[in-house]
Amino acid sequence: MDYDAFKNSVHDLINLDLNSYKEQQMHRRILQWISRYNLGDFAGLISKLRMDSEHRQKFLDYLTINTSHFFRDQIVFSYIETDVLPAISGPNARIWSAGCSIGAEPYSIVMLLLTHQLQFREIIATDIDEESLEKARAGVYPASQINQVPEDFLQRYFLKVDDRYELAEEVKRHVKFSKHNLLIDPYPQHFDLILCRNVFIYFTAEIQKKLIERFVHSLKPKGFFIVGSAEHIINPKQYGLERVSYCVYRKQ
Ligand SMILES: C[S@@+](CC[C@H](N)C(=O)[O-])C[C@H]1O[C@@H](n2cnc3c(N)ncnc32)[C@H](O)[C@@H]1O
Repeated sequence: MDYDAFKNSVHDLINLDLNSYKEQQMHRRILQWISRYNLGDFAGLISKLRMDSEHRQKFLDYLTINTSHFFRDQIVFSYIETDVLPAISGPNARIWSAGCSIGAEPYSIVMLLLTHQLQFREIIATDIDEESLEKARAGVYPASQINQVPEDFLQRYFLKVDDRYELAEEVKRHVKFSKHNLLIDPYPQHFDLILCRNVFIYFTAEIQKKLIERFVHSLKPKGFFIVGSAEHIINPKQYGLERVSYCVYRKQ
């Protein structure tokens, strides 16, 4: 089985279009997986995926690289706190965390909104990976994922149970999680703030461009779009965006 045939089978089995992801990086990661599980070759991996649903889920997890933690990238979060959230807050403020993984990103935003008593209407958080969404809904985290949470937030919004940290219902209840594939599903609309961080770095340049266009379309005028630190948007004007700070863009 060659790589093209492999990609087609993966698409059928886990509904992930590998053509949209950077080829070299993806190919290398898949070979590492095959060797880690002693599956021999692409055909060996496909037959394992066909037989074993747990392996299918683990493989999807691995391919979509779902690492995350609270307040990831302090400089960006400090700008969000001082400039973005005060600018958008109000009874109709809507926020979308796209590619939210285990929920650390949208929950970090909720803690800031609650702490500063800023009004908002809704926060949605989406991801392609059901297992990450389950973790997000549960809101229980190991110490490694909360080590950038400020001490006062830790005291106020988390309960330490053994070696894990449980997020307060007061925070959890504000985020609606759902499964959404950025490559194929329709995009929800009318957001004041969209965060899509450390997600499209894995996609080809052509796909990244399409996704940025779709995100901009989903923003209200003057809405903010925030990307990851390795996802600098070249010539933001072509999308109708203006760069306002490190990793932060605003719809013109
Ligand atoms: C590295 S995590 C980023 C999490 C968080 N935004 C952050 O910056 O900490 C990347 C996430 O993108 C998700 N993802 C990858 N491909 C996706 C797709 N096609 N549609 C939706 N989410 C996707 C993965 O499942 C993963 O949870």
